[in-house]
Amino acid sequence: MKTIAELEAKLAEPSADLIHDLKSVDGDILILGVGGKMGPSLAKLAINAIREGGLNKRVIGVSRFSDEGTRRDLEGAGVETISCDLLNDRELQNLPESRNIMYMAGNKFGTTGREHFIWAMNAYLPGRVAEKYRNSRIVVFSSGNVYPLSPVGSGGAHEGIAPAPVGEYAQSCLGRERVFEYFARLHGTPMVMFRLNYAIDMRYGVLLELAKSVWEGRPVDLTMGHANVIWQGDANEMALRCLTKCTNPPSVINVTGPETLSIRFAAGEFARRMGKEVIFHGLESETALLSNASRSHQWFGYPRVSLLKMIEWVSDWVQAGGVIWNKPTHFQEREGKF
Ligand SMILES: NC(=O)c1ccc[n+]([C@@H]2O[C@H](COP(=O)([O-])OP(=O)(O)OC[C@H]3O[C@@H](n4cnc5c(N)ncnc54)[C@H](OP(=O)(O)O)[C@@H]3O)[C@@H](O)[C@H]2O)c1
Repeated sequence: MKTIAELEAKLAEPSADLIHDLKSVDGDILILGVGGKMGPSLAKLAINAIREGGLNKRVIGVSRFSDEGTRRDLEGAGVETISCDLLNDRELQNLPESRNIMYMAGNKFGTTGREHFIWAMNAYLPGRVAEKYRNSRIVVFSSGNVYPLSPVGSGGAHEGIAPAPVGEYAQSCLGRERVFEYFARLHGTPMVMFRLNYAIDMRYGVLLELAKSVWEGRPVDLTMGHANVIWQGDANEMALRCLTKCTNPPSVINVTGPETLSIRFAAGEFARRMGKEVIFHGLESETALLSNASRSHQWFGYPRVSLLKMIEWVSDWVQAGGVIWNKPTHFQEREGKF
């Protein structure tokens, strides 16, 4: 893949399973927080699945659209858009009803010093949204950050492990889940808590950050020596398919790739492909932020894009000087300070 157009097309290729699942889901799909890294490709994936399946559904994307280009791009793809600041309750209440809600709005960076805002965004707003959309089914984007760091040999935290979030961002993510769950139980709203760990495409993510370090000859920090990654297209597929898995009380699902990825291995692979030497800094810790996503693989099958395919695509992209976003993951952070 060499161009943004090719990348976007790949991200928006629906599987037969997604088309099949969406046939059994009644009503339109409303995506709250569509304007970020994942929302545009999720919306376009939904549109393509609906077209290919001959389904009668609208996809409506809601965001502030800080980036007007994103809005134009979505409209061009057949996604209806509504500009809305969800924290403005009048604007929220004016949004249309919809049977299906993908809740993707959130805030992570700049947390330190603005803790009040993070809590309003990640834990108060969910209550307003859960009240407004009590008659819908809701897929709640959450994070693997709700878990404590796990021993690297453990295979990662599974859904039965009690959350123990490190730092206020991660705590507010658990707050988001708990507040949604409270209103789900109050109103009988079916939901899934979608605990995602590090979606990637070529423009952002853990693999891009490693590839850039290797390409630019900067040291790779091994202190957070392991991570989980998943191709954004696969994560978006699973998120949409979760509309068939919404239950009350809410289900919880970890979503990421099957590997406990060694950062040393990934950096080494980039170096080999790029003809570079890696400079490592520090040593692997005994723990890392890791999720065990076996249940999601049982539900939906393994991701379609393998780890080595992601490494190959990201490596080629970086060497070709492809467009990247300045949206670092800070996956190395062990104290939860974002
Ligand atoms: N990407 C990952 O690897 C990852 C991992 C774990 C969890 N997650 C979670 O999954 C969700 C989607 O991920 P993402 O990477 O696409 O997140 P993202 O890039 O932060 O996108 C979320 C979008 O929500 C919109 N938004 C924020 N505040 C809003 C408000 N007050 N009103 C309306 N829209 C608002 C913003 O777009 P506008 O500026 O246009 O409003 C923002 O770009 C997020 O909740 C994230 O926390 C993602």
